[in-house]
Amino acid sequence: MAASATTAASHSLRPLCQSQFPKCPHLFSESQFRPRLLHSHTQRFTIRATSAVVVDSDLSTNKHQETQVDLFACPICYEPLIRKGPVGLNLSAIYRSGFKCKRCQKSYTSKDGYLDLTLTSGLKDYTEVQPVRTELFRSPLVSFLYERGWRQNFRQSGFPGPDEEFRMAQEYFEPAKGGLVVDVSCGSGLFSRKFAKSGTYSGVIALDFSENMLRQCNDFIKKDATLSTNNIALVRADVSRLPFASGSVDAVHAGAALHCWPSPSNAIAEITRVLRSGGVFVGTTFLRYTSSTPWIVRPFRERNSQGYGFLIEEEIKDLCTSCGLTNYSCKVQKSFIMFTAQKP
Ligand SMILES: C[S@@+](CC[C@H](N)C(=O)[O-])C[C@H]1O[C@@H](n2cnc3c(N)ncnc32)[C@H](O)[C@@H]1O
Repeated sequence: MAASATTAASHSLRPLCQSQFPKCPHLFSESQFRPRLLHSHTQRFTIRATSAVVVDSDLSTNKHQETQVDLFACPICYEPLIRKGPVGLNLSAIYRSGFKCKRCQKSYTSKDGYLDLTLTSGLKDYTEVQPVRTELFRSPLVSFLYERGWRQNFRQSGFPGPDEEFRMAQEYFEPAKGGLVVDVSCGSGLFSRKFAKSGTYSGVIALDFSENMLRQCNDFIKKDATLSTNNIALVRADVSRLPFASGSVDAVHAGAALHCWPSPSNAIAEITRVLRSGGVFVGTTFLRYTSSTPWIVRPFRERNSQGYGFLIEEEIKDLCTSCGLTNYSCKVQKSFIMFTAQKP
């Protein structure tokens, strides 16, 4: 993973090396992005993509203020962003940092606790309106109600409930232990918070297109005394334009989301792009119908019912495999499907 992320930035960067940066030894002891040990069967050492590389320590005002290459990438250029501010993948450090793309010069900042990495970030006059299935969740009311009753209704369609869904996802994420997990379309962070609390991952990115869902997520995190904010970030982004370098992410989770995406094919292609080799994608959604649905009923189950894009299992498998993902498997219960696939 690290190889590909650092390759993306390598033309303009010097490697993070204590001997070359005698003024910045603290990066090794404090940075959340420092290279990590990955315990595999062969006990190999692997540098993670989350490694930060100092590009100009002379710009620092104190030892916590660095200008460094970040794990976030520009959604326009896919170049890793340069961060100016405190180091680390944690809420307050990111909130106090400024991010800039060296190639297109676009700047990105945080507000209301999340970092806005959408293509429209900072635009004053243009407002983009997405399909209803995306816009619905941008509403303050729906965002407020989501974990206060809305999501509980999913049980009627066969969703086992957050605890069991989390347990199932964790099983599939075994190869991603110790790595970076991105919870795309996280909503108000139901699963992001569970991933962060599990201590299984070096970092968790809660990512959604809805500003209000991210505000809710921030509120839930702040109210939860048992949740450390030291390995979690909140990012606003479009699943069809993920702000990460290619091959830089260990695991992608997308709970109850595929039917809300404007283009599932664009989204799964993007997820495939950002996953490292061996990285795992786990998603859940509602199926339009299953193999046990009577044939006579099937034609009446519309693809775009209630504004959502419900697929059938074969379509989901087709999308994953056409993007080059392998080892596809799934579990189905009524309309609920949890599917997984791996980047070769
Ligand atoms: C039903 S919620 C799922 C929330 C949570 N993952 C769960 O399992 O309960 C679907 C989420 O998809 C998000 N979404 C819709 N379109 C999106 C897009 N283009 N990019 C990223 N997220 C999107 C919505 O904002 C919403 O929060």
